[in-house]
This record gives sequence, structure tokens and C-alpha cells, in this order.
Amino acid sequence: MAKLKVIVTGGGGYIGSHTIVDLIQNGFEVISIDNFSHSSEKVFEGIQEITGQRVFNYNIDLKDRASTLKVLGEHVDAVGVIHFAAYKSVPESVEKPLKYYKNNMEGLFNIVEGVEKYKIPHFVFSSSCSVYGLVDDLPLRETTPFGVAQCAYARTKQHGEQMLEDVSLVANFNTVLLRYFNPVGAHPSAKIGEMPIDAPNNLVPIVTQVAIGKREILTVFGGDYPTRDGSCVRDYIHVCDVAHAHTLAMQYLYQRKAKQKVEVFNLGTGDGVTVLEVIQAFEKTTGEKLRYEIGSRRLGDVVKVYADNSKAKSELGWELKYSLKDMMQSAWDWEQKMLKL
Ligand code: WQD
Repeated sequence: MAKLKVIVTGGGGYIGSHTIVDLIQNGFEVISIDNFSHSSEKVFEGIQEITGQRVFNYNIDLKDRASTLKVLGEHVDAVGVIHFAAYKSVPESVEKPLKYYKNNMEGLFNIVEGVEKYKIPHFVFSSSCSVYGLVDDLPLRETTPFGVAQCAYARTKQHGEQMLEDVSLVANFNTVLLRYFNPVGAHPSAKIGEMPIDAPNNLVPIVTQVAIGKREILTVFGGDYPTRDGSCVRDYIHVCDVAHAHTLAMQYLYQRKAKQKVEVFNLGTGDGVTVLEVIQAFEKTTGEKLRYEIGSRRLGDVVKVYADNSKAKSELGWELKYSLKDMMQSAWDWEQKMLKL
């Protein structure tokens, strides 16, 4: 039987590359679109080492409408598109909101226009728990209404979801929105992982850079929050568990299990973990001692965020495979591997 073809935008990115591996290992054929503005072509060597397959990538910018439509027109037999390509730095989106609106929204408009024009039947959108904004009604459920977005990045995800709600209702395609909590870690093979092009802002890449000596010290942003140990709580989830959820979402759409034209799923473990507990888990797992200090709070941080993931478990058949220990070990293995790249 011919393999089902899926087009992945942002295939060279962190979650995109891990999702491509999972799709291939679950029998899909994958075509990638990535202009390497925030990723490296080397990722495709890692994907090939893991899967034995060289994925073809179109190096085009999704803001280029003609090129985007041309690529989709060459793959009208695709059963779906998984759209990752977007800028995702929270602080940068605060400094440069127009850059984020242009890139994230124009790219989305063009890819959706192509999906509709060529009648590609299924669409999976990379969204974020940041669409919930500052909400203290925890755990967060898919029915939890949007709060006030804390940055332009989060707002582009809110607008993206709302646009897809409107378009998908009258269009030929069905949509799944996947709201990631805090994806961390790397593929167990250490052949792909998070490759921050600039200095990372996220906790776990900073932890591993401090551990390997790329950075002096980790500053814990706030030690006086109303939590178990005074530091913020987040729902850290292994990137491979997030990746597999995309494969399940595409299968769910293809097998017409969706009850509505647009379905939303939270991708988190449901466990809230503090920053200090991440540090302790890293040190215990790797045996590395981490230099850190308690600093002042970071503007825009919410005290606690964690998911109710029961819908993804029951409707997608999603089962978590990786623990916090696995997240720490794989992140550390990858940081050490990057030294040799
Ligand atoms: C985690 C915790 C910080 C760095 C991000 C994205 C969001 C979504 C989820 C994609 C916080 C603390 C961090 C440091 C620290 N991603 N921290 N010292 O802010 O929860 O959200 O991931 O959709 O869009 O922004 O992640 O890793 O930046 O922070 O103490 O040097 O670590 O205060 O409590 P965040 P993060």
C-alpha cells in the first residue's frame, strides 16, 4: 500500500524534526518545508541517521505566497499538513511584535490558502499553552477560555487558532490544534535535539549550557512565589511525547475520528514541576553539579501552569513514554553531543 504523505512546515525545527522522525517510524512519507531562518540543515542528517531516510526539504519562506502555493501544488496527494514554522521567542516577540505578526500570520495564511486550494484534507496546527494567558484555574483544560496573552508570540497563536476555527468550518479540511506546554529534552539517540540558533531563553537549554560550561550560572527567576519551594511551576514534557501526539493527531484525522471540524488538545504531562525541582532532577540524573542563584522574578511569568491532558489520552490514545529523568538525561546527552558537531 502506498505510504500516506504528510507535509511538515518547520521540519528543521526542534519539535518539527522530532515529529518527522515519529511520522516516518509510523509509516508516513514526509516532505519538509523550512527556510532555516531558525534551524540548521544538519538536522536532516540526524533524521536520516535515525530513520534511514533522507527527507526532501523545500527551502522556501512561507511568507512568499507564490512559492508556498507552488510547493503544495506539487503534493496534492498529501493527506495532511503539520504546520510548525513560526518564530517562538517570547522576549523577542515583545521587542519586535510586527516581525512576529508578519512571519507567523502571513506564513499561516499562505499555507492554509494552499491547503484549501489543493483540497489537502487535514491540518495540524502547532499551538501553545501560552494562549491561556494568566489563568489560575488549574489544571488547564481545552475548554478553558483564552486569557490575556502575555506577548505577541502568544497572541499570534491565539489569532492563528481563531482564524483556523473560522476557515475550517467552511473549508474542505479538518483541523487539530495542539497546545504544547513546556517541551524539553531530545531524541534518545542524541542525533537530533534543540539547536538554539541564538542564546536560549528557555530553562532546560540554559541548564545544560551552564552544566557544560557554555554559561557561567543559571539565575532562577524568583524564589518567593506561592509554590512548594518558591519557584515557578511548569508542565515539562518530553519532546518525543509531543512529537508522537502529532502522528496520532494525523491518524485521528485520517481515520475521521474527529467529532468536529476543529479539535483542540493539550499536550502536557499534567504534572507541575518547580524550577528548583528541575535543577534537582538534572543534578540527580546526570551527577553534574549546577551553579545557580535565586534572582528576581521575570516579567510575564505566570506562577503555575500545568495541563489536564485527559482529552488527548482518551481521544488520541496518547500515552506518555518519558519521565522527567528521561527529559534531563536526553537534554544533557544532546548538549554534550552538540560539542562535537
Ligand atoms: C520555564 C520556567 C522561568 C529561564 C515557554 C514559552 C511558551 C511555551 C512554553 C511554546 C519559568 C524559569 C527560565 C531561566 C528561570 N512554549 N526560568 N531561569 O516561559 O514557561 O514558556 O515554554 O509554545 O510559549 O515561552 O518557559 O523555559 O522560559 O521558563 O528561572 O534562565 O523557568 O521563570 O518559570 P516558559 P521557560
